[in-house]
Amino acid sequence: MTYSRITGTGGCLPERVLTNAELERMVDTSDEWIRTRTGIRERRIAAPDETTCDLAERAARQALDAAGVAPSELDLIVVATTTPDKVFPSTACLLQARLGVGGCPAFDIQAVCTGFLYGMTVVDQFIRSGTVRRALLVGAETLSRILDWTDRATCVLFGDGAGAVVLEASGEPGVLSTHIHADGAYEHLLAVDGGISQGYERVAGGNAYIRMQGNEVFRVAVNTLGSIVDETLEANGVTRDAIDWLVPHQANVRIISATAKKLKLPMDRVVVTVDVHGNTSAASVPLALDTAVRDGRVQRGQRLLLEAFGAGFTWGAAYLVY
Ligand code: UT7
Repeated sequence: MTYSRITGTGGCLPERVLTNAELERMVDTSDEWIRTRTGIRERRIAAPDETTCDLAERAARQALDAAGVAPSELDLIVVATTTPDKVFPSTACLLQARLGVGGCPAFDIQAVCTGFLYGMTVVDQFIRSGTVRRALLVGAETLSRILDWTDRATCVLFGDGAGAVVLEASGEPGVLSTHIHADGAYEHLLAVDGGISQGYERVAGGNAYIRMQGNEVFRVAVNTLGSIVDETLEANGVTRDAIDWLVPHQANVRIISATAKKLKLPMDRVVVTVDVHGNTSAASVPLALDTAVRDGRVQRGQRLLLEAFGAGFTWGAAYLVY
């Protein structure tokens, strides 16, 4: 039996820290509101000339170093992003060129905040089937570019960053199962209006920014994440005792706590980075994972439950042995 094992993780955050105190000077909000409603204290914002691929490259190089894998050994490069550098080539192809390796397939995945779990599902299929032995999977975003900095309902929530993993074929257990879903009926609750085909001017008056009905999204997210963790445990024939760490999507600490409560997991078994990263969409789960690997919380042999929920709606989970 061939498994995909995570052999290295990496992360990258832009240098610029944007605090709640600064946001108080930009929109009608307060540090108290942001902290109590979301758990966010600060987030990182990419420099004007810093792109998604810049962040992806730094996270990727760290993950490759940690895995002891040379870029030339990669059989596949997948980047999950909603904020690609260009319409084309894909950010994965741009990253491949930066790494100086041509030849292996490279493509982007667009599933917004669930992008990393969609990516892990795809990479896992390639590895299990024997087509690929070593893959680089990156979640990278510069969401600050699609934020309306006058809309307090959204601009306080998001941040920029990238997280990466190297996944390698192994006879030892690694990814045990992945579960992904979508329901396209919810566009009206969370979307960026405007784009290439619809146009920016015609649809959004040139202002294509994230628009969200937060409380509606919140309700669906809590219920949906509750079901997907059940689905994942059931598929593996295990109970919640078989989870050493929950590594959730970092959108709101209240959503994270609700999932932990449902699993009856104490918060000291949950990786929380939303306080310092904000919601980094496709980068959020791999950044949280990398943080907990680097600070020594997540150890080899431990069982992790990863989950995410995002626009689409899309949602997903993975159960794995680290
Ligand atoms: O990752 C993709 C998925 N996204 C999510 O998972 C996000 C899900 N949603 C959330 O995390 C929460 O719904 C929010 C953090 C976005 C909002 O929290 P909430 O407790 O659901 O607040 P709300 O939207 O019901 O708004 C409550 C009040 C409103 O005022 P009124 O109508 O009660 O007077 C808002 O206008 O809070 C007001 N408000 C703010 N006040 C201060 C909204 N944004 C802000 C703000 N500062 N930044």
